[in-house]
Amino acid sequence: MVAQILIKDFTNSAIHMPPKDRQRFVNLSNDISQLGSDFVNGAEPAKSHVVLNKNSVRGMDPVVVQQLQRWNRVSIPTVGMVPKLALRSIHDEEARREIYLATRTSSKAQIRRLEELLAKRAELAKLSGYPSFAHMALSDKMAKTPEAVSNFLTTLIESNRVQVQEELAKLQSMKGASPLQPWDHAYYVHQRVFEYSMSRRSRELSRVPEFFSLGTVMQGLSRLFDRLYGVRLVPQETAPGETWNSDVRRLDVVDEADRHIAVIYCDLFTRPDKSPNPAHFTLRCSREISADEIAESASMDPPSHPNDGMATAMNVESNTLRQLPTIALVCDFPEPPASGNGPPTLLSEHCVRTLFHEMGHALHSILGQTPLQSISGTRCATDFAELPSVLMESFATAPEVLSLYARHWETDEPLSESMMRSMELDRSAHGLIYGAVENEAQILMALVDQAYHTLPTDSPAIDSTEIYHRVFSEHSSLPDPPDTQPRTSWQGFFGHLYGYGATYYSYIFDRAIANKIWQDVFQSGKAAIDREAGERYKNEVLRWGGGRNGWRCVAGVLGNSNPSNADGRLAEGGEEAMREKSTLYHALGRDLGEIDRSDRAGTRLDKGAYAGTSR
Ligand SMILES: *[C@@H]1O[C@H](CO)[C@@H](O)[C@H](O)[C@H]1NC(C)=O
Ligand SMILES: [Zn+2]
Repeated sequence: MVAQILIKDFTNSAIHMPPKDRQRFVNLSNDISQLGSDFVNGAEPAKSHVVLNKNSVRGMDPVVVQQLQRWNRVSIPTVGMVPKLALRSIHDEEARREIYLATRTSSKAQIRRLEELLAKRAELAKLSGYPSFAHMALSDKMAKTPEAVSNFLTTLIESNRVQVQEELAKLQSMKGASPLQPWDHAYYVHQRVFEYSMSRRSRELSRVPEFFSLGTVMQGLSRLFDRLYGVRLVPQETAPGETWNSDVRRLDVVDEADRHIAVIYCDLFTRPDKSPNPAHFTLRCSREISADEIAESASMDPPSHPNDGMATAMNVESNTLRQLPTIALVCDFPEPPASGNGPPTLLSEHCVRTLFHEMGHALHSILGQTPLQSISGTRCATDFAELPSVLMESFATAPEVLSLYARHWETDEPLSESMMRSMELDRSAHGLIYGAVENEAQILMALVDQAYHTLPTDSPAIDSTEIYHRVFSEHSSLPDPPDTQPRTSWQGFFGHLYGYGATYYSYIFDRAIANKIWQDVFQSGKAAIDREAGERYKNEVLRWGGGRNGWRCVAGVLGNSNPSNADGRLAEGGEEAMREKSTLYHALGRDLGEIDRSDRAGTRLDKGAYAGTSR
């Protein structure tokens, strides 16, 4: 597998091309990365403000309005939180429409950058012998072809449509006779969420974070990993200079024989100038350290440690020295207070799920220990990489897992079954208000990404706005704003078009597979702490890192008796499964669960001391 990956990498870097083509390839690659980074950083609306009459912004928070007001005019910026608040709260439809259109219309310069980027990508693909950039990008992914991705996404959006219609019908009845428009969605959803938040259940749930102190949650992760995979997390003091910030805590991962197998550095608290995006970083991959390397370090003067002092361990079975996977988990939780009398850091359900998600990546690094580093842990196909992390989100709130760890920070009382039930009802209540429409929005974005990157390599000038509206008018359940001048060009704000080029579907795709595994292997939670299920998932999926085709992993973990895997069709590549709308393919389409919503109303987080895993 490693050899194949290297050949592919070299080929995709033009090693086989004659010098002139190779030079062209290098030039194009450089241009693409320059344009890409300009595109990601250059998102800006064509108009910086929308100026409205004071009377037409009624409904908006008067404190905010006052800050934006001059005489009788209110000037609403088109970026940041203010336009979001405005779209949720302004009663006047015409005002909402104007704001909506302005926040979704990009500057001309930004659209030019995107179109140039797409043209260069198409040229690069042609030079490399592919019909389009998507063909090139997908050739080493699970999906393999743009046809498979398009098949997956269009089936998914159709099977999601019934729920979308139900959601929209409720909003339509709130609006009355005139048809529901895209600029109405946030407004009526907000009203429904607001009514819901006044309910008794919602008030009861404000206590949930008291059962999720950071230390308790960490301990829960350790217990869960122990039950399922026989590995535990052990807090470890750090040496002076070992970490990049004094907030960083070290956890060592040990197996059942108390052998040290991995190191996790947790950098979980917010700091000025720290990225707010939660992330998992592999600082060092796992690998075998060769005898030559050991000899070389020993022969230095003075002799040096064979792994620069970073964690290693002897593998007793093969008698080899191993470099242990070393991971950083970065989150943005509120920092603990200086004095420790109040509550410790308490996490909202959303933050707990985020931590489980990142720990899912970590688990892949911990258990996917391969002899060669280029396929270890998370170094697998992009459209397979989110599977372990998305699956972990299901564990976070399963009652079987909650009863392993959720306890009140002060009284130690466990989270009651009725609270667990309320949490579940709360999730589905929010899901019923906007879940399906959010899913559809994600699928539409993935379809736009595909449309942009499957442009034939000889296509004349690209009109990204026209393509965007073509996708929306074909697939969107809400009407696409007709004939506005200028036409909206939201694609200019879709920065992932660069980083994910042709693979934005990955997250949705992995969520579908994760749901399948959650239902069929972990029995929707009934087997959430079952060792046998854990071992099977470890041996068929996690252990391999990127060293095994993703479809083989899925086939292995679902097993031969699973109807989705009849005739072993998944192991054969899954391409067929995706193309033929076979059982699994349909199951994927139907089982798309909740997509993470970053605008979920976050529970207020209190400050507190990080209790390590001791509480
Ligand atoms: C590549 O770029 C260099 C420097 O900009 C230029 O001199 C050269 O002609 C280009 N080569 C090709 C094949 O495009
Ligand atoms: Zn992730």
